[in-house]
Amino acid sequence: MTEQKSLFSDEITRSGNGINLSVKLGKIKLDNPVIACSGTFGCGVEYNNFYNTAVLGAVTTKSYSLEPMEGNPPPRIYETAAGVLNSIGLQNDGIDAFIKKHLPGAEKLGIKIILSIFGQDLREFDKIAYRILKIEDIREKITAVELNLSCPNIKKGGMAFSAVPGEVREIVGSVVNILNIPVIAKLSPNQDNIIEAAAAAREGGAQAVSIINTVVGMAVDIKTFRPGLGNILGGLSGPAIKPIALAKVYSLAREKILPVIGMGGIFNWEDALEFLVAGAGAVGIGTVNFIQYDAGKRIIEGLRNYLESRKIYDINEVIGRIRT
Ligand SMILES: Cc1cc2nc3c(=O)[nH]c(=O)nc-3n(C[C@H](O)[C@H](O)[C@H](O)COP(=O)(O)O)c2cc1C
Repeated sequence: MTEQKSLFSDEITRSGNGINLSVKLGKIKLDNPVIACSGTFGCGVEYNNFYNTAVLGAVTTKSYSLEPMEGNPPPRIYETAAGVLNSIGLQNDGIDAFIKKHLPGAEKLGIKIILSIFGQDLREFDKIAYRILKIEDIREKITAVELNLSCPNIKKGGMAFSAVPGEVREIVGSVVNILNIPVIAKLSPNQDNIIEAAAAAREGGAQAVSIINTVVGMAVDIKTFRPGLGNILGGLSGPAIKPIALAKVYSLAREKILPVIGMGGIFNWEDALEFLVAGAGAVGIGTVNFIQYDAGKRIIEGLRNYLESRKIYDINEVIGRIRT
């Protein structure tokens, strides 16, 4: 096919003299497709000690709730053979602390912020959205709002919001109506309905979906016969979940419902490229930040060098170009 040929030829559109790394996901424009994942990078301020985190396409914040939350009992992190189990329990200091304390710090450094939020029910999502709406010059300060729909719906027996497409449509639709900035729906891999949930997010007016959140997992300490995590069950992330994430990204991207931000076990530029080729319009890096503090910068450089060596002048040329 001619489309495939152009990948390795010189006939690709050049963008200026350099390599174009910028991507568009609906109304969301990013200078490059590498995003720090929610809950693994703060707001990017502390990591700025290791590299200029403003070079990232965006930083997705820790998920914020209406009121501060203490999270789950310890231990909350457990290392496994090829990944990490966590049961942080959505600990955070609340949306007001984000607005007053964390956002100004990130703004000063020029970090592009995707603000992640979650509520215990629809009303709480709305209440948080109204607080966000009060931020002055909001469109300059926040690239998008990501709804963490993998969190439990307390009013409905603790099942994840993303398990029920009707809930996804309602929450996304309501927040989109309140806010005048793009909304991303973050979905859970723990139900087999990502396509229906993504379709519901589109109906609600989302610009993109983020997949995947962590995969439910558990560990047992055979010395004490106790679970490895205080909360017993937790979420698995890191290299162990990469094939699962890739399969979900590929299966959803080919449906062309919404642009997909793909994440799960990306540790280097080669992993990131796999996700892009499988159809992700951008990628998230999470667990790797705990191991290699400057992973974001390295992955952006790695992608740029790869494209240059292949004479591909626009990253969009590789997105979704899986040969099946
Ligand atoms: C310690 C930790 C905390 C996390 N907290 C959140 C969170 O607050 N909100 C959210 O949407 N995802 C959260 N995640 C999930 C990540 O954003 C990401 O979806 C997942 O870890 C898969 O990517 P990775 O394998 O690159 O880490 C968290 C993950 C980890 C490891």
